Amino acid sequence: MPSTAPDPELPATEVENGGEGELEETPAATRTPDQWWRSAVIYQIYPRSFADGDGDGIGDLPGITSRLDALVELGVDAVWLSPFYTSPQHDAGYDVADYCDVDPRFGTLQDFDSLLTRAHAEGLKVIVDLVPNHTSSDHRWFQEALASPEGSAERARYLFRDGRGPDGSQPPNNWQSVFGGQGWTRTTRPDGTPGQWYLHIFDSSQPDLDWTNPWVHEQFADILRFWLDRGVDGFRVDVAHGMAKAAGLPDYTPPAGTGSMGGGVTLAPEIEGHAAEDPATPPYWAQPGVHEIFREWHAVLEEYEGDRVLVAEAWVDPLEKLADWVRPDEMQQAFNFVYLETPWQAPALRSVIDESLAAFGGVGAPSTWVLSNHDVVRHASRLALTAENPQGAGIGPKSPGQPIPDIGLRRARAATALMLALPGSAYLYQGEELGLPEVIDLPDSARQDPTWFRTNGARYGRDGCRVPIPWEATAPGYGFNTSGESWLPQPGEWTRFARDTQLGVPGSTLELYRLALELRRSHGLGTGSVDWLPGYSEQVVAFRNGDVTVIANLGTTPVELPAGEVLVSSDALPEAVLLTDSTVWLHTL
Ligand code: NOJ
Repeated sequence: MPSTAPDPELPATEVENGGEGELEETPAATRTPDQWWRSAVIYQIYPRSFADGDGDGIGDLPGITSRLDALVELGVDAVWLSPFYTSPQHDAGYDVADYCDVDPRFGTLQDFDSLLTRAHAEGLKVIVDLVPNHTSSDHRWFQEALASPEGSAERARYLFRDGRGPDGSQPPNNWQSVFGGQGWTRTTRPDGTPGQWYLHIFDSSQPDLDWTNPWVHEQFADILRFWLDRGVDGFRVDVAHGMAKAAGLPDYTPPAGTGSMGGGVTLAPEIEGHAAEDPATPPYWAQPGVHEIFREWHAVLEEYEGDRVLVAEAWVDPLEKLADWVRPDEMQQAFNFVYLETPWQAPALRSVIDESLAAFGGVGAPSTWVLSNHDVVRHASRLALTAENPQGAGIGPKSPGQPIPDIGLRRARAATALMLALPGSAYLYQGEELGLPEVIDLPDSARQDPTWFRTNGARYGRDGCRVPIPWEATAPGYGFNTSGESWLPQPGEWTRFARDTQLGVPGSTLELYRLALELRRSHGLGTGSVDWLPGYSEQVVAFRNGDVTVIANLGTTPVELPAGEVLVSSDALPEAVLLTDSTVWLHTL
């Protein structure tokens, strides 16, 4: 049975409603075949590290605008911008102090408008980040809450609770922060005595909002409209599995083997098995209450002309459950982190591809595919790790199972060539088109991820995938800016990864991405289907998508190529055989 891409003509179906078990009709009008996001390749820009227009060492919006041409040349359809809003930057901007303004480090609202105008003129859609689970503790809402009495309307915006124990000195429950340490911080009353505690699933500078409060809903509907009015094409929704908490905030101890964000644990290819398939649902992740929020936002987007999109950052296992996030009246897409966390093993990849197409297709949504982002070890290193590496832990000089760079890059190229041949929508993270590895040997003094501090260095965190990217081999800061300043130090040996080193060089990683993106588009792979090919060994992933045959060899035995014109190859093809850790696309009739 071929696995097919979700059928855009899907008839109205009955879908389960919000985890509450009701059935409702799919609004057919919300699923039309020309929805751009169904097959789009979306490039994640991490503004701090993309391009720095003013030379202060932190990337900015004018820097991004000046480099958009490179993304057009790469051949992507859209960009997603990680947060650039007013923020004290305790979590690199995911701690927002004003959702409707630009932090001066990144520029101004006018700079944003110029970026958007320019991107649209170039044919690129623009998605911005929405961070609704928590605000910065600097946000006016939280400062007002702190200054207001216990039980006040201002306090009800957040999750303030009395402590346990006779003097309230114990946190209200045992929840831990994703970044390490406990998930509660105690406040101090104006008279200096200890007061209530507030919940922060992330850093103590990121208090969680209380989404049972209608006031919070109203604020975010306004925030969506603010950016939609400016013309954005959609939102990537941060922690879209975390906003609703189980009533009563019960104690919970996660089972071993679950990632801190709720997904599984990345296993190295050499380790048997797969991440936990269905970890028990924690009372702070994947609660049914989130679906009501998404429906509200879906309706807000429908107030606007054009085809706007909500994309869930939701670390939810299994995929059948994640599919609830993209039912017809909820979000349009969800990041497929189950795919990202799949080890580099052919049977596991075949399964996750089948499961993804079935789960998302079952609700009429496209599958997404993603291998890297700003929260995980870059896949050019991750795919060659030989020890467990939970999401968010990062790798540093003392991490076990250090990746071998050549193997990592080889697997990364093969993995990307495989991913870009799949039907649905694919996400790329800035720098992966250059084959960038994780920066492992950052000095401890340079590290900035709150994870590093909250675990006293036990977990390195995510800085290694966030180093400013190299544009020009011989320019200061590799062309990230003209000053050579960089908020995280760039490795001395990145000359070979610089964009200008690779541009126009056949076989370079950049040219591999450009070619794959061009042919993905011209052969309609994003709207195609997966038809598994028989006759290959267990260690091979082989399928047809339209007139393209895709073969990825994850085994050690060379694979003989069938007849057909080679379109894309992640590696040289000596004597028409596909060597280990490589992928080829062939044009076959
Ligand atoms: C997910 C974001 O991708 C990550 O970078 C951030 O630290 C957390 N959410 C908290 O906002």
